[in-house]
Amino acid sequence: MATSEGWYPPPRGGSDPTWAEAYQKAAEMVSKMSLLEKVNVTTGTGWMMGPCVGNTGTTGVGFPSLCLQDGPLGIRFAHPITAFPAALTTAATFNKRLIHARGQSLGREARNLGINALLAPCIGPLGRSPLGGRNWEAFGSDPYLQGVAGQLTVRGIQDMGVMAVVKHWLGNEQERFRRGDEARPRWDRVKEALSANIGRRAVRETYAWPWMDTIREGAAGVMCSYNQVNNSYACQNSWLLNGLLKDELGFQGFVVSDWLAQRTGVLSVLAGMDMTMPGDGLEWSDGKSLLGGELTRSIVNGTVPLARLDDMVLRIVAAWYQLGQDSPTFLPPQKQPLFSSWLRDEVGPIYAGSEDRYDAIDVINYYTDPRGQVDADWSVPVDGGYEHSRLAREIAAEGVVLLKNVNSTLPLSRNDFSKKPKYKEIAIFGSGAAHNPAGPNACVDRGCNMGALGQGWGSGSVEYAYLISPLEAIQARAVKERSTINFVLQDGANEKVNSTAQYTGKRGKDSVCLVFVTADSGEAYVTAEGNIGDRTDMNLWHGGDNMILAVADRCPNTVVIIHSVGPVLMEKWINHSNVKGVLIASLPGQESGTSIVDVLYGDVNPSGHLPYTIGKSLEDYGSHADLMREPNWEIPQQDFTEGVYVDYKWFDKQNITPRYEFGYGQSYTSFNFSELRITKLWQDVERILPLPRERDVVFPLVKNSTVPKPEEVQFPTSWKSFEGFVYPYVGSATATSTSTPTPFVYPEGYSDVFRNLTSTLSSSGGFQGGNPSLWDPMFRVDALVTNVGKTAGKVAAQLYLGFPDDIEYDTPVRQLRGFEKVQLLAGESKAVTYELTRRDVSVWSEKYATWVIPSTPNGSAVGQYKVYVGPSSRGEERGEGVWSMT
Ligand code: BGC
Repeated sequence: MATSEGWYPPPRGGSDPTWAEAYQKAAEMVSKMSLLEKVNVTTGTGWMMGPCVGNTGTTGVGFPSLCLQDGPLGIRFAHPITAFPAALTTAATFNKRLIHARGQSLGREARNLGINALLAPCIGPLGRSPLGGRNWEAFGSDPYLQGVAGQLTVRGIQDMGVMAVVKHWLGNEQERFRRGDEARPRWDRVKEALSANIGRRAVRETYAWPWMDTIREGAAGVMCSYNQVNNSYACQNSWLLNGLLKDELGFQGFVVSDWLAQRTGVLSVLAGMDMTMPGDGLEWSDGKSLLGGELTRSIVNGTVPLARLDDMVLRIVAAWYQLGQDSPTFLPPQKQPLFSSWLRDEVGPIYAGSEDRYDAIDVINYYTDPRGQVDADWSVPVDGGYEHSRLAREIAAEGVVLLKNVNSTLPLSRNDFSKKPKYKEIAIFGSGAAHNPAGPNACVDRGCNMGALGQGWGSGSVEYAYLISPLEAIQARAVKERSTINFVLQDGANEKVNSTAQYTGKRGKDSVCLVFVTADSGEAYVTAEGNIGDRTDMNLWHGGDNMILAVADRCPNTVVIIHSVGPVLMEKWINHSNVKGVLIASLPGQESGTSIVDVLYGDVNPSGHLPYTIGKSLEDYGSHADLMREPNWEIPQQDFTEGVYVDYKWFDKQNITPRYEFGYGQSYTSFNFSELRITKLWQDVERILPLPRERDVVFPLVKNSTVPKPEEVQFPTSWKSFEGFVYPYVGSATATSTSTPTPFVYPEGYSDVFRNLTSTLSSSGGFQGGNPSLWDPMFRVDALVTNVGKTAGKVAAQLYLGFPDDIEYDTPVRQLRGFEKVQLLAGESKAVTYELTRRDVSVWSEKYATWVIPSTPNGSAVGQYKVYVGPSSRGEERGEGVWSMT
């Protein structure tokens, strides 16, 4: 059985020079805090006990209650906000500028609403299973892509002074069994949450890889996940938090639990968790925290060293300084969040979750519009007129992936309003084209698939301020083009679909049929149409396949538009001779209709690329890619036996031809790749290991840190407490007694002696992100991209790397190691340049316990790498090159 070794004590924050000033200031502030105040900083006030999904307690020394709010595509529970395209859609743009701009806009809306920390980006799940319910919240099934996109999103959010809390650390690859208590009503056998059992190499090369990038960027927070990793809960796994995250990846910020993911008190604290959310411990809304008064008690009775609490608090306060949140202009003039997550009234209870809620009434909603407002001194203006809805539309359009376009069926327009329309007769099919009749926000947390699908469901969803459906946008455009529009919004192969397709099809080349189909998924706390968060299969919902076939059998120009949370099976219809066009529009958010019109009509030349592989069957992805559907034990054991071979790496290794490979995407023009050139940048390539860690660091210390007497931390009798609210006090004097009947048993390997260079620190560590020499540029790759078609367009020029054949490590045939979006006029050429770092050309070696440039069997000589630059992971038009590092 997979196990996690103990790694103690938690490395202290403040070791990275880029955080030194913030830690100095934090140390001064924390030195003024009482024990109770320190505990408050680490503990949520309880579910619905404040405006945000997470709120920390207060202090009297100028450190505020922090507001932590979801999530990855917009500000959850606030209104109005922008419902941006999902991360998966954003990843499909392969456009770094747009990814960064989206992060900034998320940060701007968060800041304008008075939010301290945004629970975003989500860079795990990675998509080990295409059925994973939350894959759409993250950036696709390749660690390199996740890393770049995650890093740029963190940069964007933090550009605005908002803390980015990156989630979910680690291995939360399926929803089913992610939590024991959530699974038990259905599967009473399940005693504990699933354990994701991941090998040491796959952790580094696949699952933790993108985290290195976000932490190197300076992410303020990390959220530990619900599941276990190697049979220890992610929020109490000392190897995962103390070892991998805080030592090896040099994380300087704070670790916050996912909501109720903390399962134990002292053990979590000793394992490196720094903040608990929502504050309640094992149950929602019971006010019984595993930190709060319990943490106070454990300090007073000596179980948890005070230095550990000081470090927890320092990490949180330092993150606040690091982001400049001490600035008087950070918060709005009201000095509090301007919205309530729970109620829409202007005035109402500030502790909505308490039975005593009517005892504290105040203004809870200020009805401000955070979408790039420029009319108040404190709000962050949009730059360059980049209005958020425009950006959302641009990303959604650029995230559309064109998979098939026979005989230039698309675009629908000649883009010349003076001429007659290209298609006089347009018929639209499928409920996904129009609104949910009950309204776009009808289902709680978007927990249903009715009408235009713009987001998946769960905590990663938001309330639409508006949603433009494909039908309304196409209709508006068609009127301008003088086309007629007919539509059938009942899904499946029914009489109305048949007759409308028949009627439209009779107009031959003057007509086109647009079929809108969907596949949805989300978080496990909602089950929709039998899907317990995860998708049960890769099929289209609502009889989508049959509807496509019914239309295509009758309509010679059939175009399929897919709104989906991930790859779907297309085998039943993809080769139908009347299916002339196929587009994947993923999850576009509020600008669903406008963005699809941009692409359908050719105002935007499609340039999205698949951030995952579309296989011909679920089996093609490998047996690991199916869900664990039934628990295989009372602690479900999910062995990641495929190692690093996820998605296209599996297809390549097994030599399985996918329907459409990772990175694939067509355009209305075409591109050519040539002139691949490789230049050595680094003289020291013979050195196969990263540079040794150099420095021991001086940590900022909290002064005046003393443990108060038990009577000083008792619940005050003089004031009213709120039922269900989490407080830092302990109940009675006996509760703080050190002479507990059962003395605390410390975990195996526990020590409170801080490690330094002469003890065991990871040689892959040293600074935030990891050993800095891992980012030394080793090689430059240049290539030339030419637009050889007739219209202007964009393409993501992707660089894939194949390791030498004769090394002792089994490595993927090719791995993404660079991408650049290139915009080209017809006939134009542009150079693209990539830099490959030491990490890019290394594997993680069990033998050396660090990253290593693999040498050939005959000695230290480094072998021949293969470089591919092209429009996909298997692009026909790709330049190839080999180089020798010797
Ligand atoms: C989710 C997190 C989310 C949190 C707060 C949890 O259920 O897993 O992603 O940030 O709730 O809403």
